[in-house]
Amino acid sequence: MKETSKDEDSWDQRDNMKSSHHPYYSLPRLITFFFAFFSVSYFLYSLQFLYSPHSSSSSCDTSPIHDSARQAQALPPPPTQTTLHHIVFGIASSAKLWHHRKNYLKVWWRPDRMRGVVWLDKPPPPPPQRDVADGQDDLALLPPVKISSNTSGFKYKNPKGDRSAVRISRIVSETFRQLDGREMRWLVMGDDDTVFVAENLVRVLSKYDHNQYYYIGSWSESHLQNIYFSYNMGYGGGGFAISYALARALERMQDRCLQRYPGLYGSDDRVQACMAELGVPLTREPGFHQFDVYGNVFGLLAAHPITPLISLHHLDVVEPIFPKTTQFQALQRLRAPLELDSASLMQQSICYDRIRSWTVSVSWGYAVQIYRGIHLPRDVETPSRTFLHWYKRADPAGFAFNTRPLTKNLCEKPFVYFLSDAAHNASTNATLSEYVLHGVPSPDCEWKIADPSRIRRVEVRKKPDPHLWDKAPRRNCCVVLPTKKKFAMEVNVGECREDEIAELR
Ligand SMILES: *[C@@H]1O[C@H](CO)[C@@H](O)[C@H](O)[C@H]1NC(C)=O
Ligand SMILES: *[C@@H]1O[C@H](CO)[C@@H](O)[C@H](O)[C@H]1NC(C)=O
Ligand SMILES: *[C@@H]1O[C@H](CO)[C@@H](O)[C@H](O)[C@H]1NC(C)=O
Repeated sequence: MKETSKDEDSWDQRDNMKSSHHPYYSLPRLITFFFAFFSVSYFLYSLQFLYSPHSSSSSCDTSPIHDSARQAQALPPPPTQTTLHHIVFGIASSAKLWHHRKNYLKVWWRPDRMRGVVWLDKPPPPPPQRDVADGQDDLALLPPVKISSNTSGFKYKNPKGDRSAVRISRIVSETFRQLDGREMRWLVMGDDDTVFVAENLVRVLSKYDHNQYYYIGSWSESHLQNIYFSYNMGYGGGGFAISYALARALERMQDRCLQRYPGLYGSDDRVQACMAELGVPLTREPGFHQFDVYGNVFGLLAAHPITPLISLHHLDVVEPIFPKTTQFQALQRLRAPLELDSASLMQQSICYDRIRSWTVSVSWGYAVQIYRGIHLPRDVETPSRTFLHWYKRADPAGFAFNTRPLTKNLCEKPFVYFLSDAAHNASTNATLSEYVLHGVPSPDCEWKIADPSRIRRVEVRKKPDPHLWDKAPRRNCCVVLPTKKKFAMEVNVGECREDEIAELR
């Protein structure tokens, strides 16, 4: 991410200029001085154009400046890129679940770089004995914990839900009041079992102007959930973001608004009801994942939509995302690819091994699949139904996106390789990630196509691409490289070259 360093602040520059006027008049110094003087003047002159009110991108933090002040002040401060520093998190938890769920926060929370508050209903019980030893660490590793204010004055009349929904809905206002005035541009709501990819959250939010009203998130995987709640609702577990201007407006009216919807079920539908009163629609960013599914989310993560991965939720409900580990260990394994190339995490690329007639699908930093035969991109980019519907009885048509069935044909089952390691190679300036074969599908396939079970390991090379999402969305391309390594396949992943497409020629 671009970050505006302090030196670019115009006030600092002016101060530096003054302090560099030293009375040494040797010719080289004079020449240097004049050169510097003209460069700086030219720089300031061009800044005036860049940041004049008409051409500004309007994402700057300038509060309205009175005319007299404007005259005294030659230049407004330049707009700065949105960074992690501008985001404030409001995390919903409860005293009952806190000691278990805080482990999910430890996976992604960076105490030195992030700000936010965890809201509980009451003080948590003392931590279990085994945690006491690292109890001291907890304080340093986690966001501050606060107790929500008393909501017994609010009506709650939904027969199926729980009135804690009112408390959780008010986390928006309560967090806003805690941190207003401290360079907050976005308020991001999440649950204690939500894991955020903060770098990608920043990438997505920095596309929008926090001085306007934005309500950003995504809906549920379940079409029925979306019918019941709303396709206009940002699901709270997947997380949603509210721009500063909108959070301020919502804070002013939320308590009145909440009294009008005692019959609603949850907290995020209460927020949406108030958004409807404010007239603000959901801006959908499909990288927020509510994960209203059961079972194995492999199909979703192996064919992620072409958009940055922002969040994962319901991690206690779905199976660990890597086999034979706990969910916490599985999430820790994602740390390495995340640190190397967060923009590309779980991004799919599709290519073919022409000689052996295989289809290769890479979900970078997570898994590789090899299929016997040639599968077309429009199929491979569709998630396979490794997971179950939220309403377990509902049929596959109940998903809010395209899926494909798991094949019953033994020959068509993919060979799956899961991430085992990832590192950066300084001499090639590329990442090398390794994936190892998990299980072996039945050898009983009678197709006359090479058997991928000989391939035990896939090595993927890829240059990190922090600016992937500054461009129009497009899937990366991959190429199967010739290799002399035994039992291994080597694949290169990267931006598609001119005229390079996923086709077999
Ligand atoms: C919340 O407020 C109600 C009424 O004002 C009071 O009866 C109740 O004891 C309060 N609850 C807590 C936990 O303070
Ligand atoms: C880095 O890449 C070079 C060139 O492919 C290779 O020779 C070297 O072994 C790699 N280093 C590591 C640590 O993998
Ligand atoms: C290595 O790659 C990164 C990301 O593409 C780039 O910013 C950097 O300049 C490269 N460094 C070298 C030495 O090529």
